[in-house]
Amino acid sequence: MSFDPFAEFRMDGHTVIITGGAQNIGAGIARTLCAAGAKVMIADLNGELAAETAAGIARETGQVCRGMACDVTDKDAIDAVVAATVKEFGGISTLVNNVGWGGRQDDPAAIPEDEFVRSYKLNTISAYRMSMACLPYLEKAQNASITNSGSFSSAVPAYDILPYATAKAALNQMMVSLAHLLNKKVRVNSILIGTVITAGYADAGITPEMQERMMHPDNLIGHPGRPQDIANAMLWLCSPAAQWVSGQTINVHGGGSVVRLFGR
Ligand SMILES: NC(=O)c1ccc[n+]([C@@H]2O[C@H](COP(=O)([O-])OP(=O)(O)OC[C@H]3O[C@@H](n4cnc5c(N)ncnc54)[C@H](O)[C@@H]3O)[C@@H](O)[C@H]2O)c1
Repeated sequence: MSFDPFAEFRMDGHTVIITGGAQNIGAGIARTLCAAGAKVMIADLNGELAAETAAGIARETGQVCRGMACDVTDKDAIDAVVAATVKEFGGISTLVNNVGWGGRQDDPAAIPEDEFVRSYKLNTISAYRMSMACLPYLEKAQNASITNSGSFSSAVPAYDILPYATAKAALNQMMVSLAHLLNKKVRVNSILIGTVITAGYADAGITPEMQERMMHPDNLIGHPGRPQDIANAMLWLCSPAAQWVSGQTINVHGGGSVVRLFGR
């Protein structure tokens, strides 16, 4: 049979920036897009780990993968990573705004204002700035897309992580507005990610006992996700297979409508 249903999921000829791709979900996305044929730049606060992860992906996939230090809350650092990617790859067809995180709040009724501002800068404004810095190159590319790592917590009550959840909710709005602003030029989508337990959970104040409870979530599948579950959806949204998909939030969280809060 000559028809190959996977052909449109290939990323050959695509040039990608993935923010926060040095580890966990972002690294899974970088590995998957590279293996599908893309050239990938990992832009991460941890430049050393970004370079190490990229070298491992390049060895494993035989494709071009680079890593460099970039703080996505710093406009100069964003400009530097965009310039380096264009110099190295000749353009940018695909942006994955994957950076994001926030801690658990001990007292959701007394959250310092700074927490909201910090979260908004990291989870929302960074994606806007990255998108605008890449735009001149995206506009020239075939199958150009921006895809965000959103959160299921943005769409359900999530008072334990309010600054994070509200900033991710703002990201959803920004995604749909940018999809309309950039219509016919750049596709823009978000994946609403559910629980994918990583080493970062401890830093976010989630105790081993809470993590144990989260191993048995109230989703329709019954267990947390893997970085690869997110990477699989990301490959679809970035690839020509999703050329008729824009302005969408796609839930990849094990299904269901219950968010499991951390407990008090
Ligand atoms: N893990 C989950 O359960 C989960 C659930 C819902 C949504 N998400 C979202 O998915 C994305 C990835 O999550 P993860 O769990 O893999 O995150 P992670 O914390 O494990 O990794 C994030 C990466 O981003 C980098 N980073 C942090 N701040 C940065 C900055 N200012 N500039 C550049 N890089 C920076 C870190 O160095 C790290 O390598 C995030 O947007 C997160 O909000 C994750």
